[in-house]
Amino acid sequence: MKDKNTHHLITSALPYANGALHLGHLAGAYLPADIYARYLRLKGEDVAFVCGSDEHGAAITMRAKKEGVSPREIIDKYHHLNKDTFERLGISFDIYRRTSDPLHYETAQEIFLRLYEKGDEFEERETEQYYDEEYKQFLADRYITGTCPKCGHEEAYGDQCEKCGSALSPLELINPRSTLSGQKPSLKKTKHWYFRLDKHEGWLREWIAEGRLDGQFHHDPKTWKKHVVGQCMSWLDGRLIPRAITRDLDWGIPVPLPEAEGKVLYVWFDAPIGYISATRQWASEQGKNWEDYWKGPNARIVHFIGKDNIVFHCIVFPAVLKAHGEYQLPVNVPANQFLNFEGRKFSKSRGWGIEQHEYLKVFKDFPNKEDALRYALLRNMPENRDSDFRWDEFADYHDKDLADKLGNFVNRVLVLTNKYYEGKVPDAAGDKAFRQAQDKAFRQDFDKLSLTAQDNAFRQKMTELAQNWASEIEAFNFRNAANAFVELCELGNIYLQEKAPWALWKANPEDPAIAACLNDALQLTTLLSLITQPFIPFTSDKMRRLLNLPKLQSGDWKDMLQKLQEQKPLLRAGHQIGKPEILFAKIYDRKDDSRLRIIEAQKAKLQALLEEEKKGQAPELKPTVKFEDFTKLDLRTGTIIAAEKIPKANKLLKVEVDLGFEKRTVVAGIAEYYQPEDIIGQRVVLLANLAPRKLRGVESQGMLLMADNAEGRPGFLSPPEGWPNGFPIR
Ligand code: MF3
Ligand code: ZN
Repeated sequence: MKDKNTHHLITSALPYANGALHLGHLAGAYLPADIYARYLRLKGEDVAFVCGSDEHGAAITMRAKKEGVSPREIIDKYHHLNKDTFERLGISFDIYRRTSDPLHYETAQEIFLRLYEKGDEFEERETEQYYDEEYKQFLADRYITGTCPKCGHEEAYGDQCEKCGSALSPLELINPRSTLSGQKPSLKKTKHWYFRLDKHEGWLREWIAEGRLDGQFHHDPKTWKKHVVGQCMSWLDGRLIPRAITRDLDWGIPVPLPEAEGKVLYVWFDAPIGYISATRQWASEQGKNWEDYWKGPNARIVHFIGKDNIVFHCIVFPAVLKAHGEYQLPVNVPANQFLNFEGRKFSKSRGWGIEQHEYLKVFKDFPNKEDALRYALLRNMPENRDSDFRWDEFADYHDKDLADKLGNFVNRVLVLTNKYYEGKVPDAAGDKAFRQAQDKAFRQDFDKLSLTAQDNAFRQKMTELAQNWASEIEAFNFRNAANAFVELCELGNIYLQEKAPWALWKANPEDPAIAACLNDALQLTTLLSLITQPFIPFTSDKMRRLLNLPKLQSGDWKDMLQKLQEQKPLLRAGHQIGKPEILFAKIYDRKDDSRLRIIEAQKAKLQALLEEEKKGQAPELKPTVKFEDFTKLDLRTGTIIAAEKIPKANKLLKVEVDLGFEKRTVVAGIAEYYQPEDIIGQRVVLLANLAPRKLRGVESQGMLLMADNAEGRPGFLSPPEGWPNGFPIR
């Protein structure tokens, strides 16, 4: 029988298990994937959402070395920390595996061997690489530091200079040193396997630019983000070269070849295969066939990553899968750009930013801390350009959207239903003519929603916005989807405000318009309990409870959409709802500042960091000079014996300096700070071999050495008391 089901495979970048993750990671690769996965499940789709720890590579061994522990200790610690933190934040992975898992070894080695056996996918190359004689090991790029050939930075790594950003190879470094022994490494021959990425350029270009694969339609290239396609094309334009996929390292997956003893697979070769091994593990636990998600014709693979991983997910990994021959390629890689933190890059060493688990700790007494964070990150997601996380905005999104728009609406509906109808959903079937009259009376002053007064305008608008929400999620425009959610809340609030059922109640509690209004509002509340689920799942659960409805299940969105389209109720009349509870307690609350204090403390911490920085600011030094360069300067002790203003040059003084063996005229830019008569007799240091130059018609024959203070006022450098004129300084 032919399998007609789509099998969605959703991945989030496997984080290195050598550290905690910060909010930027969450906004970049985990939250969007979770929203997408949750949405598809609500739609009734078959979904596998996989992730796990990336546990190989030099980053991990180096970290272990620094802390004097084994790599295993590091990865165990961070694997569990990251896994637990994701869970607490409601990131709904179906499985969170790790690349030190035996099944992963098997999967990665299988794929390596398959490519190896093809004969023309790999190329063996013997090259010279740096080797640490003392530690008896080859040095991974990161294990070598030296001077950057481009900018002179002395602590550049073998693969990159962090000062000027240049990509480097270890052999380019000037004065290379091993980070293990600190010694100059020697060069030694070693053999490695290179993946012939260059062979794959042609089809990759067609696949990425046109969405065609093997001459057939694969995906609509317009559905891919521009910045993703752009980065790929600039790589392809730069031409692809074979890439070493093995390393001389004692930590990683052994290269499964007899002649490759002591060598492991390169971490970027094995890591993405971690998606496959995690799927295999999950499928075997669930009694499913993992190949449906990776190889079957109806597999739909989507990789969520940050922009620094684009090339590996759009070029290298697809090429490996294509070379293998049986795998499907991703239908989209909706990479995000970067999230900054209060105007700067996250920086662990500078203490700038906040890690996920740290947030949960600091906000432990903050109600709905998980959803508050998810929501702020969603509204500010760096979907197409870098964005910035700010605590003030966090508070605004919380108070304005969640507390005011969503919370208030839901609360009013629940309170009124309990008050007027003992918590039973009132029947609003009414007669059609009545409903029509009601809708006509729904005055439109809310341009943004552009409601038209027609039959059932409220229901129509609600349906339209819910459909927008869905299609924006399907297009990976999560911020737009969030806008649709906000508009739904606004629709509800305006509707209540317009109809004012409380006023009608005062006039006549039997007025059918009250029941009609609350019935509509309860339908919207029910819809919102679902719309919120991918974004703020904890709140969604709570809304379901308040509405006395079961937890959402797979397929509920499909049902709901159908009911909306057929104008059937989402919540039937007579259904008993629960008692109202506040969904979000505002941060800016005059009576209770406990939540505001948590945020103020975070802001104060940053403020303190900034002030600390200002105080102890280590200035940027100029590039290093050699001793020989310094000795070229002829510096002499001297005394100012005359000084006068230079006409029409309000900054310059003409100064005469006695060097003992001769006198010099010097033009100095100090007239704003010193009167000529005040500096006669001032002892100075003169740069005596500076090439003379004319300033305002006066030849300046040297330069006075001065030091600026914090306000920029220059002060004279002078020789020790009693030192005669004309003596050299060295
Ligand atoms: N560990 C890598 C990083 O944090 C991402 C690996 S993604 C995978 O940048 F595809 F390789 F798993
Ligand atoms: Zn540099």
